[in-house]
This record gives sequence, C-alpha cells and structure tokens, in this order.
Amino acid sequence: MPILQTQVIDVLKTTYVPKLKKLLLNIGSIDGVEVVGKKVNIALRLNPLDEETLQQLKDIISKRLTQLGAEVVEFEITFKEQPKIKYIIAIGSGKGGVGKSTVTTNLAVALANLGYKVGIMDADIYGPNIPKMFGVEQELPKVTQDRKMIPVEKFGVKLISIGFLLEDPSTPVIWRGPLATKALEQLYEDVEWGELDFLLIDLPPGTGDVALTIAQTIPTHYGIIVTTPQSVSVLDASKALVMFKQMNMEVLGVIENMSYFRCPHCGTKTEIFGAGGGRKLAESQGVPFLGSVPLEVQVREGGDEGIPSFFVEGNSEVREAFTKISNEILNILK
Ligand SMILES: Nc1ncnc2c1ncn2[C@@H]1O[C@H](COP(=O)(O)OP(=O)(O)OP(=O)(O)O)[C@@H](O)[C@H]1O
Ligand SMILES: [Mg+2]
Repeated sequence: MPILQTQVIDVLKTTYVPKLKKLLLNIGSIDGVEVVGKKVNIALRLNPLDEETLQQLKDIISKRLTQLGAEVVEFEITFKEQPKIKYIIAIGSGKGGVGKSTVTTNLAVALANLGYKVGIMDADIYGPNIPKMFGVEQELPKVTQDRKMIPVEKFGVKLISIGFLLEDPSTPVIWRGPLATKALEQLYEDVEWGELDFLLIDLPPGTGDVALTIAQTIPTHYGIIVTTPQSVSVLDASKALVMFKQMNMEVLGVIENMSYFRCPHCGTKTEIFGAGGGRKLAESQGVPFLGSVPLEVQVREGGDEGIPSFFVEGNSEVREAFTKISNEILNILK
C-alpha cells in the first residue's frame, strides 16, 4: 500500500513531543509534505529547539511513518525567529478583580524606572484594560512593511493589547479555541518587540484556556500570582499557582494587593481584607512572597485616568511597594 500525503499530515497533527509536553502543532507549523513512493519529505517550521528535542521529534515521526510503510523519511526544518526577550512573566490570579492589571501596570513602570526595557502583553481577551490604564485607548500600533505591529509606547513601556485588535473594544468578543490561540500568538510573534529585559503578560482571571494557550504558544518560563489577603481569594490563587506549576513555569512568587488602607487623615493602617493571606499562600506553596501593595484611592484613580499610580506625587507607599517588589524579582532572577 502506498503511503498517502493525508496519512502523513494526520501523523504530524497528532504528534506529541514528550520532552516539551506539547503537540507538534503547538511548537510550529507544517510547511509541506511530499510523498514519492515510499519516501516522505517533511518541511516543518518550528520554535527554536535544542538538538536532543529535535531528534526526539524526528524519531517519533519517523517511527510512526515507518509503521505506515514509509522507508525513507527526510526532514527540512526551519526555525521561527523569536523576539529577543530575557524574561517573560505571566501575571495571573484565580479570581477576577484582585488587581492583576493594576499590578502589571505599576510593576512594568517600576522596572522601566529602574532602567530595564519592559513590555506588556495584555492577553485579557475578555476585557483588555491595559490601554486604559496607560491612557492609550485611542492609539493604534503602527504596522511595518512585513506586517509586524510596533507596540504603543507610554511611560517607557512597550504595550500590545488584544484591545488594539478589536474594532470596538466596548463590544464583547467571543473568542473560541483556535481563533483565540491565533490572536494570542499574533500578540507575541507578530510584534516588533525589539530587545526586552521583561515582558509581562496580563492574563485574564481564572485558570482557563488563555493561560494554557499562553503556556503552550509563548515561551513563558515565569509566573507571578496576585491575590488579596482574604481567604476566598487566596484559595482561588492557590489554584492558579498549581496551574503555573503544572505548566512547568517557575512561580516567582505571590504579590498581595489591597493589603491595607492607610487613613489619609490620621495615618492609621486598617487591614480591610484581613491580614497576611498572601504570605501564608506563598509559604504553604513554598514560593517567595514578593510584597504587599496598599489599597489607595490614587491607585483606582490612576487606573481610571491612565496614569499609573506609581507616578502620582505624594503617593510614596505605592511607589515604594512596587520598587521593593521589582527588587525582589530582580534578586530571584539574578
Ligand atoms: N491597590 C489598589 N488600591 C485601590 N484600587 C485598586 C488597587 N488595585 C486595584 N484597584 C482597583 O480595582 C479594580 C480592579 O483592578 P484590576 O482591573 O487591576 O484587577 P484585575 O485582577 O486585572 O481584574 P480582571 O480580573 O477583571 O482583569 C480597578 O478599578 C483598580 O483600579
Ligand atoms: Mg485585568
């Protein structure tokens, strides 16, 4: 029986790479398949891989095709050019509204302020907030001749948001599996990031599809969990933490947001949502506690007005908090 091209494609589509815990199609695409008698030529375009993993991939495919009757299997492999980014960090939480986008925004400007090259990828396909928090909702990324997006730059941070790709960001879009995957891939690959020290990825809430897709399509090696101090949020956050670990990401640590409220009149500190949940979560999971961010009116106002509260005059506790968190992260990555 001659081997058919469609059989080869079926094999490729269902090829799993154990070393990466990913399907072939999650690390690249099929450029071409040619069958001449019992000889099969396969052209693949892949994310950069080490020799050993590439060999494993070739062996798996060759073995399966041999079982189907192929005698010679040849590969032509090209590698996709990857953005030059030192640290890609996903910022997640189990629960919504705990301040992921606020933390991402202020952490990014804090790192930029320390002299690092920083970008944010707003991957919240259900409610992209980053453009608003930076006051750039009206802007659109320019597109280069080879159809790559140039991030919008504000406060020294390069921004790309799924919001930039929507005709009307106020209308909810229902992104389904492959479409969402494609959109997220584009936000990473089809962007002229240039050289970056940090790319922070603002995830939508929960432990759903998007986080998984990101883990599979973008070489995200690090995760940060944001939680509020109260136990419900901490419980949800621990799920996100376990998810990051399952996706082979190193959890850099936990940031506790809305930790306390300092009365602007008398200076008294009130722990509105209880105390210490973030630290407890970090300790119970054996990951670092990166720091606490106070609940401040200026933080909310800054978010609404498009000026990160890191910059607000006289708002030194938030500024200090994010500078301290940045230094913790830099220490861990050193
Ligand atoms: N430390 C803080 N002090 C005061 N307000 C805050 C603080 N952190 C976040 N907020 C406010 O809480 C709201 C929710 O924050 P944010 O949008 O950052 O949360 P999120 O986790 O990204 O939400 P979602 O799950 O919807 O993406 C915003 O209005 C924000 O301005
Ligand atoms: Mg958000």
